[in-house]
Amino acid sequence: MAQRVQAVVAREKGGPVSIETINVPDPGPGEALVAVQACGVCHTDLHYREGGINDDYPFLLGHEAAGTVEAVGPGVEEVSVGDYVVLNWRAVCGQCRACRRGRPWYCFDTHNAVNRMTLTDGTELTAALGIGAFAEKTLVAAGQCTKVDERAPAEVAGLLGCGVMAGLGAAVNTGNVGRGDSVAVIGCGGVGSAAVAGARLAGAAKIIAVDVDERKLGWARELGATHTVNAVDVDVVEAVRGLTDGFGADVVIEAVGRPETYEQAFYARDLAGTVVLVGVPTPDMKLELPFLDVFGRGGALKSSWYGDCLPSRDFPMLVDLYLDGRLKLDTFVSETIGLTDVEEAFAAMNRGEVLRSVVVL
Ligand SMILES: NC(=O)c1ccc[n+]([C@@H]2O[C@H](COP(=O)([O-])OP(=O)(O)OC[C@H]3O[C@@H](n4cnc5c(N)ncnc54)[C@H](O)[C@@H]3O)[C@@H](O)[C@H]2O)c1
Ligand SMILES: [Zn+2]
Ligand SMILES: [Zn+2]
Repeated sequence: MAQRVQAVVAREKGGPVSIETINVPDPGPGEALVAVQACGVCHTDLHYREGGINDDYPFLLGHEAAGTVEAVGPGVEEVSVGDYVVLNWRAVCGQCRACRRGRPWYCFDTHNAVNRMTLTDGTELTAALGIGAFAEKTLVAAGQCTKVDERAPAEVAGLLGCGVMAGLGAAVNTGNVGRGDSVAVIGCGGVGSAAVAGARLAGAAKIIAVDVDERKLGWARELGATHTVNAVDVDVVEAVRGLTDGFGADVVIEAVGRPETYEQAFYARDLAGTVVLVGVPTPDMKLELPFLDVFGRGGALKSSWYGDCLPSRDFPMLVDLYLDGRLKLDTFVSETIGLTDVEEAFAAMNRGEVLRSVVVL
């Protein structure tokens, strides 16, 4: 029996979002029905609402969530009813060319639920990143459920489902930050702050947080930044070089998604260092760099999708580090809100007031 639940839907470009009653079908083969307990508000939800991802309205928003498996479809072995899970948008297929080469974090054919959630008039909803968790219940592919220790509260565990994993993984997995490295992070919102926390976990000796907002720099310090640079006042490249004996950082992580800040990252990096782009550009943006510098400075220019994470490997481990007091996920939860407050949370995000607003159900 399909269920009717309340959910946050973006019906048209530019919003505002509305609360709608939606139909959630029973799980089919390989699918799981999840009772959502908490879901963070990510910048990508706002990109969806604004038509920045695609035009497949209406969208069912929300994709940084934790909850409990309420039912599973035929053939599901990964999870069982009652499991406490974090939802992920990388349910790897195991069969594509990336998976077959043993690099499932690049999987090119990730799974989502095949059955569609709908409005009560039957209109099919597009679930954000194949999740759609600003809802009392949501239907996902079973592989999108990663079981974690239930002692971690849902409002912190859910954050691993997108932004925190993306930033932390950009440092640890993509940037391969190691013990003693110097790291600079440009843009310290939810994603960049998580990159700071990741660099700290990986043993970086110097972690330079760069932002235009003092509040963000304060949170970055809490999460492990050893130095902060307010980009409003100073030349970022000079500032990072000044803090690294004139050379630049071993790894620079760009978590804004703009050509200007990417260029700063490019020049704030030491020779043979690594730049990791985790910020998401828009289609109109162009990047121009002296080609000889791209060659001459050596090293690696990388992009990071979802922190090159493997949810089954990374989520339980990060939850354990949180429970052990070594990963301060609580710092990311600026406020907890209700389903009806998502539009206001977008405004708070735009005003720079929060690392994360988290909907609690
Ligand atoms: N690659 C991925 O898998 C992935 C996943 C989630 C989000 N993202 C992207 O990461 C980016 C950051 O997301 P977020 O949730 O942290 O957003 P956010 O809005 O919370 O953070 C952006 C930060 O950049 C700062 N900033 C803006 N202009 C700046 C400048 N010129 N110099 C320095 N700092 C500046 C802002 O003050 C803010 O703190 C977005 O582009 C988002 O779409 C990527
Ligand atoms: Zn695959
Ligand atoms: Zn997200």
